[in-house]
Order: sequence, then structure tokens, then C-alpha cells
Amino acid sequence: MSLTTVELEPMSEQEFLLRRGYLNLSVEPGIDLEAAILRLKKEKNAVILAHYYQQSEIQDLADYVGDSLGLSQQAAATDADIIVFAGVHFMAETAKMLNPNKKVVLPDLKAGCSLADSCPAALFKEFRDQYPDHIVVSYINCTAELKTMTDICCTSTNAVQIIESIPEDQPIIFAPDKNLGHYLQKKTGRKMVLWDGACMVHEIFSRERIHQLRREHPDAKFIAHPECEPHILAEADFIGSTTGLLNYTIRESAESFIVATESGILHQMQKHSPHKTFIPAPPNNSCACNDCPHMKRNTLEKLYLCMEYELPEIILPEWVIQKGRASIDRMLEISARAGL
Ligand code: 13P
Ligand code: SF4
Repeated sequence: MSLTTVELEPMSEQEFLLRRGYLNLSVEPGIDLEAAILRLKKEKNAVILAHYYQQSEIQDLADYVGDSLGLSQQAAATDADIIVFAGVHFMAETAKMLNPNKKVVLPDLKAGCSLADSCPAALFKEFRDQYPDHIVVSYINCTAELKTMTDICCTSTNAVQIIESIPEDQPIIFAPDKNLGHYLQKKTGRKMVLWDGACMVHEIFSRERIHQLRREHPDAKFIAHPECEPHILAEADFIGSTTGLLNYTIRESAESFIVATESGILHQMQKHSPHKTFIPAPPNNSCACNDCPHMKRNTLEKLYLCMEYELPEIILPEWVIQKGRASIDRMLEISARAGL
């Protein structure tokens, strides 16, 4: 038996734990977090990219707030030295794949995603091997490992255009979101093999309670994200990605909207249309909110600390970056051709 010695960079236990986000750093008492974050942004030539589901204080400090497609496009175009990703892990991984030579940090490394977790790469490989002639389209809400087994990524903004760009006789596997998959089958008329995954936030809405709310607000438009279940989407006046929903509320003359997606988007809706009323769609349990527990792990304190210490950092193996990036590049090319 031969033994191989691997040279490891010397790293203290403290640094190892910090890099993985296992040690709690604390904020100096009395610090003005907003001012400190703005100072660090300038000093370190950092860019803060925030998803619409982040808490409103973080959205207001970001250089760019957007949906998954917009955030990927911004990550691909930035000339900042450090990308601070106020979102969840798969989003920061995507930014790292697009910028292998830049430092990408995430305020809380444990900010995961139930949808990405619903499709472990090893199980997906077995699934995919049953359909060797199919190409794989994956929703960007998946792990970096899954992206290495994906031909083209998509987001909820460009998914229809991505599916329509594939020749009609080419069979498709769509992963990991079965709800978005059902919606795309209906919208494009393409039959696809679907992975059985879903988002915990978008599967929580109650049709009965939405009916009740619509009776109380008969003039309100009911709008929903395509990650919602088919019986919820069937009720919607409009279905769209987070950017699509936001733009709909801006251009529509209606005065009130019942919104079936994560509650963070209401901040931008209210900001763009201060005179309109936005009501979060009710969940099917006694919980009062539609907050994503993963997105909401990021706080202003953690944002400051990750900028100050440049930790926790997203690190990916070279082969994952090489292989996974191809699926994101294809998505960005098709989106650009479609004018998205
Ligand atoms: P979009 O930002 O693409 O609408 O996706 C929503 C989402 O669930 C992100 O986690
Ligand atoms: Fe994942 Fe759903 Fe949270 Fe988006 S809202 S990060 S899809 S769990």
C-alpha cells in the first residue's frame, strides 16, 4: 500500500473554525453598524449583493438588490475585489464560480436552502443515470456539486426562455424544484422528467386562507412565485420571479396585492409604491410570516463582521468551479440573447 502525503497550509484551530463560521465573533459595543459597513465597503473595494429576501436593513445598504438572475449578472460583471453576498449559500457559490480569483464572503455560512438540500448530488447522479439521453436543466437554487451535473442552469426569470432554447426532440430532466417544473411544463408544453424537490417557504401557503383574504380584499390582485404549488398558482392573477412580481406591482393600477412569496420582497414593493397595500399570503399553519429561515440568518452584525474579518469565505474545489461554471455561462448567454 502506498501512502501519499498532502501538504496542508498551516492554519491555527482558531482560523480553521473561523473560516467555517463555527466561532462567534462579537461586535464592539456602541458601533454604528451602517457607517462601519459603508466604510469597509470603500476601504476594501467590496460590493454588497443582496437578494430581495434579505432583511430590509441589509437591502438598504446593498450596492445591488435583486433576484437570482440579476445577482448572477452583477457577480459576473463586478470589478470589486471582494463580493459580499447577502443571500444564501448556493448564491454565494454561484458568485465564486463566476469569480474564482475573487474573495466571496457570506455573512452566515449556515444560510442554506431547503430546495438545494432536497437534491443531494449523489442521489441525483443515480437518478440522472436512468435517463442517459436527457439533458439536465437545473434551477440555480442547487448546490455547486449539482451544477457540475447540469447542462444549463436557469432562474425563475429566464426558465421559460431556457427551456424553449432546447430543441423540441431533446428530452429534459428538470431539477430540483418540482413546482417550478410543473409550471414550466404547463407554460412551454414540454414534458420533462422532474426531480421531486421543493422550497419550504413556497409550499406553506393555504388556499383556503387565501380565498378568505380575497373575500376580505375583493379588489386585490393575487400574485405568486412559480416555486408555489400548482393549486396555489392556479388561483394567481400573475405568476413571476421576485423581479417579475415587483415590476407587476409597479406597473399595475391595482391598489392592493396579496403576495405569495417570501416576505422580504414586500420591502421593495412598498418602497416603489408607497401608496399601495401589500399583504403577505397566509401560510397553512399558525406562523404569522413567510420568512425564509435561511435568508434571515444574515443580520447587520454578521454582515459587518464578515466584511471586517473577510470570513466566512466561500471555497470551492477547482474542478467544481470548472465544471459547474459551464452551466451558469450557458444560462447567462441564453438570457443575454433573450434580452433578459
Ligand atoms: P428568484 O430570486 O429567482 O425569484 O428566486 C427566489 C428564491 O427562492 C431565491 O431563493
Ligand atoms: Fe431556498 Fe426557498 Fe429560502 Fe429561497 S426561499 S433560499 S428557495 S428555502
